Amino acid sequence: MSRRAFVVANWKMNGSYRANAEWLEAALPSLRGAHTACDVAVCAPSVYLPQLVQGLSQSAAMVGAQNCSEFAVGAYTGEISAAMLADIGCDLVILGHSERRTLFGETDVSVAKKVALAFENGVMPILCVGETLEEREAGKTLEVVTSQLKAVLDHCGIMPLVAGALAYEPVWAIGTGKSASPEDAQAVHAALRDALARVDAEAAARVRILYGGSVKAGNAPALFAQNDIDGALVGGASLKAQDFLAICRCAEAL
Ligand code: 13P
Repeated sequence: MSRRAFVVANWKMNGSYRANAEWLEAALPSLRGAHTACDVAVCAPSVYLPQLVQGLSQSAAMVGAQNCSEFAVGAYTGEISAAMLADIGCDLVILGHSERRTLFGETDVSVAKKVALAFENGVMPILCVGETLEEREAGKTLEVVTSQLKAVLDHCGIMPLVAGALAYEPVWAIGTGKSASPEDAQAVHAALRDALARVDAEAAARVRILYGGSVKAGNAPALFAQNDIDGALVGGASLKAQDFLAICRCAEAL
């Protein structure tokens, strides 16, 4: 990896005050010192972000949300704006996760608006793209992921992704225990970087492209050894501090 490695925990809709406090207690000794060769972030449900901002304040680890509104401010009951995330000290936000696209009707257009607002407010976006099993089997993987990416590039350019990251998460690999092979993931990452380079080659070389989908300490080293895999977005294996830290150590080792 020629870019600084980046390992991001996505807790999804898991956690409680108590469980989070235990996670922090277990992870803090490592997060305070060791992770100098790798950026680390923890993305929690929004209600727990202040707990994490406070809990991780003595470490280099960043705090992220898992969504924000496509609107800036106003009569949008239940929404949380990018400015609010910035206001509470949140560093980054996962946007366009496949669970949000498929279960909550997010579109390329709404995701692009969210990326723009996050970036404008100083919250680094982690844009997720990925194909379903059906799309992969139909040979449409590259078409799907590059069109998801293009929607964002057309709306707000490449700089939000230079500041944040792009994440390739094949839907069929999420939570299934079936990770993409390092070679298959690398092929998609390389195609994504080519698509970025068509906008700005110098900036494209700086964008971190994370892989997500059943990443564990066992498969992380082979994934991280690929040229265009710059880290991981980790779901299930991030819920236990020790499992997550083991993946961070794999990123540091490269
Ligand atoms: P798993 O690591 O549980 O497969 O989840 C991946 C993911 O969706 C991270 O955003």
